[in-house]
Amino acid sequence: MSVEDRIQQMQDLKAAIRQGGGATRVAKQHESGKLTARERIEKLVDPSSFVEIDAFVKNRSVDFGMDNVNAPGDGVITGYATIDGRPVYLYAQDFTVIGGSLGEMHAKKITKIQDMAMKMGCPIICINDSGGARIQEGIDALSGYGDIFYRNTLASGVVPQISVILGPCAGGAVYSPALTDFIFMVDNVSKMFITGPQVVEAVTGEAITADELGGALTHNEMSGVAHFLSETEDSCFDSIKRLLSFLPQNNMEDTILYDCQDDLNRLVPELNTIIPDSANKSYDIKEVITSVLDNGDFMEVQALYAANIVVGFGRLNGRSVGIVANQPMEKAGCLDINASDKASRFIRFCDAFNIPIITFTDVPGYLPGVDQEHGGVIRHGAKLLYAYSEATVPKINIILRKAYGGAYIAMSSKHLGADLVYAWPTAEIAVMGPDGAANIIFRKEIENSADPIETRKEKIEEYRNKFANPYIAASRGYIDDVIEPEATRPRLISALEILESKRENRPPKKHGNFPV
Ligand code: HXC
Repeated sequence: MSVEDRIQQMQDLKAAIRQGGGATRVAKQHESGKLTARERIEKLVDPSSFVEIDAFVKNRSVDFGMDNVNAPGDGVITGYATIDGRPVYLYAQDFTVIGGSLGEMHAKKITKIQDMAMKMGCPIICINDSGGARIQEGIDALSGYGDIFYRNTLASGVVPQISVILGPCAGGAVYSPALTDFIFMVDNVSKMFITGPQVVEAVTGEAITADELGGALTHNEMSGVAHFLSETEDSCFDSIKRLLSFLPQNNMEDTILYDCQDDLNRLVPELNTIIPDSANKSYDIKEVITSVLDNGDFMEVQALYAANIVVGFGRLNGRSVGIVANQPMEKAGCLDINASDKASRFIRFCDAFNIPIITFTDVPGYLPGVDQEHGGVIRHGAKLLYAYSEATVPKINIILRKAYGGAYIAMSSKHLGADLVYAWPTAEIAVMGPDGAANIIFRKEIENSADPIETRKEKIEEYRNKFANPYIAASRGYIDDVIEPEATRPRLISALEILESKRENRPPKKHGNFPV
């Protein structure tokens, strides 16, 4: 064979591999409203930047007729590319090839990419669209999953790991995404469950559709498994690119420093009047967040889950920050099981990847209730204390209004190692709200008075005047300064600047025992 023929042969082989499962299965994929694996990669990465690895890999199994199955790439496309000029490793399962099912060689392709991403310090993006373990390959498929989970865990906190669910992801297969940092799901396309609707109905008698059981909305709103919900695959890819812009390449690097087009000394006069006169009225914390960030650009994470706490990414002076904020519009901003889970995982991500954490506090306490107590609010709430205490990145807290009791401590207090804590003049830093406090310490006086209602009001006011302000905490040094609300942005920027050189040492240990 001449050299030209050999080159032609290689090109023909590659062209055949690029056909995936063939025209009929590709058409079926499109009919079901999904893009193919190659189309997905093309839309996600910079034009012509994708370099495929292991296109020639084939399955080695011979059982159940597998020796006669033509499975290009063994059902997964792997390689590296750039997104906005920054290198990433990625894989996309090809549903047109044996349903994207995971066999021995399919798994080996994925673990090779995971190893390379870790070695090179690049984010990894995992596009899932698969019928799960390749049934014909039995235990070899299971071992493949185990190898992937192991590497997901090794890579955790080393490189950002992003999972994109663009089809079925069922059984134990869900645990690779669950071990990664962020899960993206697309309406009507993504499905995740341990056991599908048929098994659920057979075992428990509960009839439910696949979408209700494990669709994109379910996991964004109810279970908290997913972090982002998109209407279409295209908008999902845009969101992934946006998320990456806030993240460093790995745990040894800083995030990108963007040229800040927003005035660093910009005052936000609206913040001076955003806190309502009545303590029981709410306001939207997202208005505060967007008003202080560069160009109002805020990418919320888990926007539909545990809305009583808001987390997400933004920039100050061009550099990424992680935001954690109580949302008074939802459950009065109380902390509960789900809010604690959501915030602590986010805080740990920021800490692992050198992203300073800015907290906005307005919290009346932990949510009371039997279901909270029996659901383990003690254990879950402890996560927030642990995550803030453990974090060594710069931690800045702005107390806007309420900071009561245990929740005051939990929300990035000085006591948990916050570097700078500022309060607005409207802050109320106390062991509990004035109503509750007056009821306890003045109970007898109220009961014995001629006019209990009036006395109660007076006592509440007395307590409020004495304790519901920032100055007692400031007199103890628990907050560093009381600031004009409108000056929050310049204060945060100057705080980040001075904290840039922060170094904090901790006692050596293998790892702590996070209260999961
Ligand atoms: C082998 C599979 C497969 C699998 C799908 N296919 N899943 N082959 N192993 N797990 C094949 C089909 O035979 C079919 O081949 C092609 O992929 C497309 O599948 P369809 O059924 O035609 O597609 P669709 O109607 O869209 O249904 C998709 C599906 C269904 C819902 C995912 O295929 C399905 O239920 N598959 C089985 C799911 C499952 O039980 N997986 C194992 C779970 S156990 P042809 O040749 O016709 O195109 C597991 C354990 C993991 O995953 C544990 C890890 C720790």
